Formats: sequence, structure tokens, C-alpha cells
Amino acid sequence: MRAGSWQKFVSLLVWTGLSLPLLIMIGQAITGHLGPDPAKALVDSSGLWTIRLLWLTLAMTPLRIITGMNGWVRYRRRLGLGALFYACIHLSCYAVFFLEGEWVALVREIVKRPYIVVGFMAWLLLLPLGLTSTRQWQRKLGHNWLRLHKAVYLIAFLALIHFIWLKKLGIWAVWPYALLLLVMMALRTPVIKRAIQSARINK
Ligand code: HEM
Repeated sequence: MRAGSWQKFVSLLVWTGLSLPLLIMIGQAITGHLGPDPAKALVDSSGLWTIRLLWLTLAMTPLRIITGMNGWVRYRRRLGLGALFYACIHLSCYAVFFLEGEWVALVREIVKRPYIVVGFMAWLLLLPLGLTSTRQWQRKLGHNWLRLHKAVYLIAFLALIHFIWLKKLGIWAVWPYALLLLVMMALRTPVIKRAIQSARINK
């Protein structure tokens, strides 16, 4: 397969992969397969896809470091936008089904479930990254673009806290995410990055 066709094929695969969870959620909602608490199932499922896509976005740079192939970062923006898209679905499902559109109830909810504030902060920070993810904004902001997009690490940390906090004692569901984040952060450090690069060259 030629490079151009391969890129188009992978692009199609990424778009399909990004829309699949939404299509499955819609399908389950229509056919009544969301379980005994459909509202909770929708909030949980969209929340899980947000964190999965966020982690996948963060995985692109380490994958470039390990494989030496720059192609990975081509999909970073799309995956990040996917994470933002599912975060918006997550927040919308929460607002519609949990708050029933009653925003005053949010204050009561925050007192009852403080992890919501952390999730909300992650979403608020993710929003400008999505809005400024285009080449035009990249050019306009120059060096500040890089600085702004470093917020993704804080977002990942907040998302993890949100996840750990709401699961309370269920650390077993969360530790793979925590471990993966730790590994992905470690792979970015100059010492490890250099060691991997020189190991690849000397192979
Ligand atoms: C980047 C932002 C966010 C991420 C990555 C995220 C991720 C998650 C994850 C992974 C879950 C657990 C799903 C499960 O139990 O299987 C969850 C649940 C939840 N999230 Fe978020 N979330 C985010 C933002 C928000 C926001 C903005 C709100 C509301 C304002 C929110 C409210 C909730 C609630 C209420 C639950 C628990 C639902 C239940 O009772 O089962 N989240 N979130």
C-alpha cells in the first residue's frame, strides 16, 4: 500500500474507532440494553471513554519515542478532540439525567459528591485545548501554544483524581490507568528518552 493510501486507511480507522462508542451507546439506549440504571450507564460509559481517549492521546508521544516513527503524533489532535467530545457527552448526560437540567442542584451535588468539582475542572481545562488545537491557533499563539497545551498533564492528573475519588474503595479499576500514566510520563523524561533513542540507534 502506498504511504498516502495507508495514511487515509489509518485515518478512517481512527474516525471509525472514535465514533464506535457513541454508536454503541445510542444503539443500547434505543434497544433498552443499558441495564437497570440507563442514566448511570450513559454517564459511566462516556466517562470511561473520555479517560481512555485522553490516555491514548498521551500515548502518542511515548510511542514515537519507542518506535522512532513520527507518524503517531499525526493522530494526537484527533484523539484529543475525541476525548473532549466524550467529556462533553459525559457532562451533558450528567446535566440532563442527574441534575435534570436544574443547575441550582449542582451546588447540592458538589457538597454530596466533591469529585464532581475535579471532573469539572478537567473538562474546563480541556475545552481551550480543543478550541486552540487547529494549525491556525498554533501559528497565532506561537510558543504560548506549547505552554497552553502542557495543561494536558494537569488534566490527566485531575481526571485520575476524579476517577479514584468516585470509585472510593475500588482502586482495582483505577490502578491500570495510574500505572499507565506514570509510565507515559517517565518515558517523556530526557534521561529515559535518550536511553531509548541510543538503544534504538545501536540496535
Ligand atoms: C475530562 C473530564 C472527565 C473525565 C476524564 C471523567 C471520567 C470519568 C470516569 C472514568 C468515570 C467513571 C465511570 C465508571 O464508573 O465506570 C466518571 C464518572 C462520573 N463523572 Fe466524570 N469525568 C470527567 C468530567 C466530569 C464532569 C465535568 C462531571 C460533572 C460535572 C462528571 C461527573 C461524573 C459523575 C457524576 C460520575 C459518576 C456517575 C455514577 O454515579 O456512576 N465528570 N467520570
